[in-house]
Amino acid sequence: MSGLNIYSGISELITLKGAAKKQARQPVEKDLGLVKNASLVTYKGSVIWTGPSAKLTKAILAPYGGIKNSNEIKLSSGTVMPSFIESHTHLVFAGERKNEFELRNQGVSYGEIAKAGGGILSTVKATRKASQKDLKSAAQKRVNEFVSQGVTTLEIKSGYALNLKDELKMLEVAKSLKGPHIVKTFLGAHALPSNFKTYDAYIDFLLQKVLPKVAQSQLAERVDIFIDEGYFQKSHGEKLFKAAQSFGLGLTMHADQMKLTKAYDLAIKYNAHSVDHLVQIKKMDIKKLAQSSLTCNLLPGADFYLKMPYPPARALIDAGARVSLATDFNPGSCPTQDLSFIGVLARLEMKMSLAEVITAYTLGAAFALNLQNQKGSLTTGKDADFILIDGSYKDLFYQVGHHPVVGSWLKNKKLIK
Ligand code: NIG
Ligand code: FE
Repeated sequence: MSGLNIYSGISELITLKGAAKKQARQPVEKDLGLVKNASLVTYKGSVIWTGPSAKLTKAILAPYGGIKNSNEIKLSSGTVMPSFIESHTHLVFAGERKNEFELRNQGVSYGEIAKAGGGILSTVKATRKASQKDLKSAAQKRVNEFVSQGVTTLEIKSGYALNLKDELKMLEVAKSLKGPHIVKTFLGAHALPSNFKTYDAYIDFLLQKVLPKVAQSQLAERVDIFIDEGYFQKSHGEKLFKAAQSFGLGLTMHADQMKLTKAYDLAIKYNAHSVDHLVQIKKMDIKKLAQSSLTCNLLPGADFYLKMPYPPARALIDAGARVSLATDFNPGSCPTQDLSFIGVLARLEMKMSLAEVITAYTLGAAFALNLQNQKGSLTTGKDADFILIDGSYKDLFYQVGHHPVVGSWLKNKKLIK
């Protein structure tokens, strides 16, 4: 094997070249970089060339060993595009919270359920009890479900253990999962465990006993915190971010979901990768976010399940903010893994265009994970992470539950066969 691969027979190739030039801000249809009758050339897992097959010359292949050293892979016609990046999940957990759906539907709020011992803490109980093996086999099925929809990069958070031993157990499970490229995020600051009286005491415990171990063991690349009314406050975020940064960890946060606390300010100050939810933000907040380097990671599935308003995606994009989309898959506020549903919600409820949704779930999400230099578009030098769709890109995010993905590759290695 020479490492030089030519994928040919592609009816429509979406490179996202234009979107990449704009750093995923305000993408329009032409930024999808549609090429008809195209080829994609990769070398050792990276993209080296894309364009109309008729323009693929010997000179392009020569530095890589030339045509005689290449493998030609004829794809059944269809669309090739960057694979999906799912940038916010809580998919390692035990137990279930089906009863909460019923309660919420009868008018009990997410906050009231949490106060009564349900919510995040009920998943914590089950997850602490579960063996690593059982957690892993449940989580692997969920990973496979994402992969089947064309996801090749997947973020997974801890945060359903809230003690040293089991937070590490969750991260070990995340590390052991097979298939996509996995980004692991430490979310010890997800809720206050019942053996702590105050958030202050718990944050100090995290900083002294847990975070150093997480950093040392290299089990997480990033740190997350849930800042909201009834959860952590900005002062806790400040402490955590400072400490995490001193360990060289990346930062992200759940913010401004239930109430406007302007926690996103902290994400800007500490140069976080993304700020997630942003349901409550107003005009001035939108302006600040648009001017920042943050990626606004919107999670409309959670808003749907919690019967909340949707974040102001239209205003964010129009102001110049970079937007990504994710499921927020978890057993409470968003028990769906369906990317098509998230995209349809984004189009219908948040007035995002198809080009904006496609960009948000590929390049925007790469930015949300600080992987923009490696992933998210099929431009020269980036990882050969792509999917083959049976049909056109216009078949995406239209029919809920329809996943026309028939092949996927991660750095040129086939994930969906
Ligand atoms: O992103 N907001 C906090 N965390 C999750 C919910 C987790 C849960 O309910 O178990 C979220 O929505
Ligand atoms: Fe979340």
